[in-house]
Amino acid sequence: MDHRQTASTDDLLREEFNRWAEQGKGEEMEAHHADITHKTLQRMELRAGERVLDLGCGAGWATRILARMVGEGPEGFGQVVGLDISDEMIRRARASSRDFDNAMFVCGSASQIPWEENFFDKVLSVESFYYYPDQDRVLAELFRVMAPKGKLFILINLYRDNPCTLRWAEELKVPVHARSIEEYVKLLQAHAFEGVEAHQVPDSTPSPETYSGRWFRNVDELNDFKRIGALLLVARKPDVRNPGPAYTIY
Ligand SMILES: C[S@@+](CC[C@H](N)C(=O)[O-])C[C@H]1O[C@@H](n2cnc3c(N)ncnc32)[C@H](O)[C@@H]1O
Repeated sequence: MDHRQTASTDDLLREEFNRWAEQGKGEEMEAHHADITHKTLQRMELRAGERVLDLGCGAGWATRILARMVGEGPEGFGQVVGLDISDEMIRRARASSRDFDNAMFVCGSASQIPWEENFFDKVLSVESFYYYPDQDRVLAELFRVMAPKGKLFILINLYRDNPCTLRWAEELKVPVHARSIEEYVKLLQAHAFEGVEAHQVPDSTPSPETYSGRWFRNVDELNDFKRIGALLLVARKPDVRNPGPAYTIY
């Protein structure tokens, strides 16, 4: 995908997620993603003093949890950056985070992360990665901004091995990727990430007795979706000071 195509899809994403933000969906998503996110946070082994990126942070609820977890401690004062393409999501995230002096919200594209090299110890991305028009380019950017030995945690609900979610591609007003677990693992490895792992993280929240929303046909499908779970990709940037093979300067 060339840079012009990425830029025009980014414009579409900004418009669509600004609409979501205005409808209050940024805040609503916390209830939908909290269970799988908390299970991921447990694996992240966050420590006070770490620098963390929340990629596609939406209204910033997970950024604030991260900020509490890496805040002041014996190892220093941690810092969390929430990045999102939607300026309305970012405006809301900032408004809800005034009490946090170690959380910062930045409007920008995952394809061009406005940050310096070798900075972040950990990256979390919740339900955002499948929207990125050029996932290769985003992985090259993540490799660039992550510290050597830094760890990446990407949570994805829409992927080929959870078939209940594939219909969402038609419902959503923006293009999405629907890759398989195997394809994602190969993609991360191709970008020189090490220790690539794929886990399926079930959602343990109770379901209502009946379901009348638009994302699932019925409550049985909702329960299947939760049982199969989200795909969690975990990977580590190698301990090198030199750039890996997929490194590109944009
Ligand atoms: C489904 S929401 C999830 C938001 C948040 N992580 C949560 O769990 O509540 C997807 C988010 O990804 C953001 N996003 C989509 N494409 C993006 C891109 N290319 N760069 C940065 N953010 C993007 C959207 O604006 C939106 O806020």
